Amino acid sequence: MSMASLLRIILSPLILLLISITISASESHPMQGFCSVECDTELTSSSGKILIKQGTVVNAHHKVVADVYIEDGIIVSVRPNIAVGDDVKVIDATGKYVMPGGIDPHTHLAMDFMGTGTIDDFYTGQAAALAGGTTMHIDFVIPINGNLSAGFASYVDKAKKSVMDYGFHMAITKWDEAVSKEMELMVKENGINSFKFFMAYKGALMINDELLLHGLEKCKSLGALAMVHAENGDAVAEGQKRIFDLGITGPEGHALSRPPVLEGEATARAIRLASFINAPLYVVHVMSIDAMEEIAKARKSGQRVIGEPVVSGLTLDESGLWDSDFTTAAKYVMSPPIRKTGHDKALQDALATGILQLVGTDHCTFNSTQKAFGYGDFRKIPNGVNGIEERMHLIWETMVESGKISVTDYVRITSTECAKIFNIYPRKGAILEGSDADIIVLNPNASFRISAISHHSRSDTNVYEGKTGKGKVEVTISGGRVVWEEGNLKITSGSGKYIKMPPFSYLFDGIDKADAAYLASLRSPVHRTAATY
Ligand code: URP
Ligand code: ZN
Ligand code: ZN
Repeated sequence: MSMASLLRIILSPLILLLISITISASESHPMQGFCSVECDTELTSSSGKILIKQGTVVNAHHKVVADVYIEDGIIVSVRPNIAVGDDVKVIDATGKYVMPGGIDPHTHLAMDFMGTGTIDDFYTGQAAALAGGTTMHIDFVIPINGNLSAGFASYVDKAKKSVMDYGFHMAITKWDEAVSKEMELMVKENGINSFKFFMAYKGALMINDELLLHGLEKCKSLGALAMVHAENGDAVAEGQKRIFDLGITGPEGHALSRPPVLEGEATARAIRLASFINAPLYVVHVMSIDAMEEIAKARKSGQRVIGEPVVSGLTLDESGLWDSDFTTAAKYVMSPPIRKTGHDKALQDALATGILQLVGTDHCTFNSTQKAFGYGDFRKIPNGVNGIEERMHLIWETMVESGKISVTDYVRITSTECAKIFNIYPRKGAILEGSDADIIVLNPNASFRISAISHHSRSDTNVYEGKTGKGKVEVTISGGRVVWEEGNLKITSGSGKYIKMPPFSYLFDGIDKADAAYLASLRSPVHRTAATY
């Protein structure tokens, strides 16, 4: 027996003991599914060299059978028959798909919201992501009392335990000169190129049209993308009161109080205001036909509008909210609500045909105890569902396995388009020489099954409980490290990198020309003779 093996046998129980002490000291619940941390040297090569052999390498533009060679976190070569030495870890991907790791454009890890905090932080949320084939996510920084720098600093701190790469969007919750100046700082110094405006959550995060107009103007001048949570917050507040006063206090009241028409209205309004400013717009969590059709109409007329459906909206319907068990029903509460059956299929079709462009999760988890804050009053149920671990599998099953889209389109909607929109392509979102080695190996013949018993989120429930399908992420490589293999996670707190995202993505190309053409077209001012009295 080698000295290294002997040491590992002696040290393993000690390391596991240390891990369990750390976990039980910092968590109030079991860490389901966690197997190991950075202690097993067999899973990856110490040289940082990996060869993925004979897989079908899929990019958004092309797929080909080839080998992928990785060194020090970067993809060095993509071509057939790469020969390597003994110091290289070899992964056989014959018959499997080798694809860019997923990028989730929409998450809320460690977010303070509705009087509590999301249960997944940057460690557990990212662990879940990696186990499900997502290697980067973009989280929403929430300002502190409207202060952007304070919000940013607090998220930098929260993200210290990251185990994979991440970026930040930032919410704008109030407007004054200081906010306007700070937006500049965020873009120019801090690598943020997108700002979210909540048109709902009255009395908390909600902004009005005047602020949205200021925000759109500012975003445009900075080359930053304006994002909207599109629901009419005033009408939602009215609807909530109306439904509650009818004596409907349970989770079903959530859906009844904020129907699709309120999402459609706000989406249309945001789109028209963006058109008025001539600024690109990104609509987050598109949940209804009503909102999707507004996006379709705007895109058809040439407006730069991006629509992001989320996994819950694509694969669930609202029936769970009527479950007679409160805990089961409450887990489905998110905003905008999961809609009646029919909306899900329409969103899938819109995604397949390019009306909607990329898929997020809005991963924003609360456990049953937190959801129970709203027992007897649906308005107090913390809004949010899981999805960061399930997205890649459910989208494969719903969109590829069903025959709705190609494998290359799968890569586009789960990874590449996000990298392009947020201006980090081809560093992310591609398997090309020089790209970051964020890669998954998906076996189309293996199957997955989702359950709160085995998932990696800290939540005790899962809105996709019991869902099964074909296509399983068997290997995840993050930053050139094998972090998920044979059902084992191998992650290191602090190993994730903050990815700065530069402004002026492709969505801004030509905007200046369109503005110049508009100005040139104005038949004003009119030179008039003086008025006669
Ligand atoms: O219910 C949701 N969506 N919770 C997260 C906050 C948001 O609106 O994105
Ligand atoms: Zn939202
Ligand atoms: Zn969200």
